[in-house]
Amino acid sequence: MATVPDFRSLEDRVVLITGGAGHIGSTLAEAFLAVGSRVATVDLTDPVGPPTDAGPDRYQHLPVDLSRDGDAVMACDGVLNAFGRLDTIVATASWMGTATTPGWNVPFDEQDERLWAEVLQVGVTANFTLMKRAFPHLAANGGGSVVLLSSIYGFCGPQPAMYEDTGINNIAGYAASKGALVQLARWLATTMAPDVRVNAVSPGGLFRDQRPPFEERYSERTPLGRMATEEDLVGPVLFLASDLSRYITGHDLVVDGGFSTW
Ligand SMILES: NC(=O)c1ccc[n+]([C@@H]2O[C@H](COP(=O)([O-])OP(=O)(O)OC[C@H]3O[C@@H](n4cnc5c(N)ncnc54)[C@H](O)[C@@H]3O)[C@@H](O)[C@H]2O)c1
Repeated sequence: MATVPDFRSLEDRVVLITGGAGHIGSTLAEAFLAVGSRVATVDLTDPVGPPTDAGPDRYQHLPVDLSRDGDAVMACDGVLNAFGRLDTIVATASWMGTATTPGWNVPFDEQDERLWAEVLQVGVTANFTLMKRAFPHLAANGGGSVVLLSSIYGFCGPQPAMYEDTGINNIAGYAASKGALVQLARWLATTMAPDVRVNAVSPGGLFRDQRPPFEERYSERTPLGRMATEEDLVGPVLFLASDLSRYITGHDLVVDGGFSTW
């Protein structure tokens, strides 16, 4: 009888999650702990609360600033020091700005070149550096897997009507960083094969208390009728990290409720 690989392949694997204090990163940290992985989160900020009551032998958080040269290498080395091995990287860190950051949540002609560079540094360049450092370690034990969090805005253009009078702007640098990340996943997939698989996940917009006109318009344009939640990403990311997807590499798994099919 055929053996069926499952999420049990993630037991005891060491998973590094960048942006692990964020909404999606912290939800994924909890999920990996729940299936028996050991987890290191790295982030600019501290997690709001420890993901579970897991002790330091199963969970550690390391402060890093991926906009700084050297911190991606520090992140990799920190996890190796903490756990002695590294099997999986889930990259969720992204410079997101806030509604009030000057030059960020503004129309195209006001979007700032310095923030463009910052977004590409954290979202793309830091991952390039991290993968170079991590590659031999990911390859060492078999089952190495990388999942890069992109976005539908890595391959879709924004629809202006959706944003009208919402106070929300779609940012060119963010879109460029997400497109680059999917291509980096494909490039790494062939370069790191056969010992390490590399895939991307492209979520649609997550519900974060956006003002009603935006949420309503977005949901109307989505076949499944709603924005995404953090939990919607757990299955897809664990699938790509685990041996369930052992013959999948260089793929972009779109998790958008069908938004991009129309
Ligand atoms: N929220 C959405 O609607 C959405 C949609 C599609 C894709 N995504 C992608 O999913 C990923 C996670 O998004 P999220 O919604 O959880 O965002 P989030 O802002 O909650 O998490 C991002 C994390 O990255 C960290 N970070 C930012 N700059 C950093 C730096 N210099 N060094 C280290 N860490 C840094 C932040 O501190 C934060 O904890 C991102 O890559 C995002 O682009 C999000």
